[in-house]
Amino acid sequence: MSDTPDAARMERARALSQQNHCNFCHQSNYAGQENVPRLAGQREDYLLKALRGYKDNSRRGYDAQMSEVVYAMKDEDFVDLAYFLARLK
Ligand code: HEC
Repeated sequence: MSDTPDAARMERARALSQQNHCNFCHQSNYAGQENVPRLAGQREDYLLKALRGYKDNSRRGYDAQMSEVVYAMKDEDFVDLAYFLARLK
């Protein structure tokens, strides 16, 4: 990734993540725990595909937690979250 992260976009996604408790299950450093996968530094396109998949049910989790999380969220939220998470170390 050669581009410098867009600070405003990173901040918006960070707030979104806190509102939706992403940092609760995935840990505050997004490194995951037990059955909750690591998000930090994963590929942006992979993260986006996973979030869209939970929303449209094309990706079935081992449990329903993520489907519940993304249920009320918008596609633009997924785009910002994927952007943010992929740029975390
Ligand atoms: C209630 C706990 C919980 C919350 C809140 C939560 N997650 Fe998850 N997340 C999980 C679990 C459990 C999995 C693994 C599910 C599975 O089996 O696919 C997962 C999987 C994922 C994956 C797939 C990762 C991979 O490597 O395949 C992504 C991306 C993800 N979560 C993003 C998010 C984002 C973004 C948020 C906030 C909007 C969020 N999660 C909030 C529990 C949670």
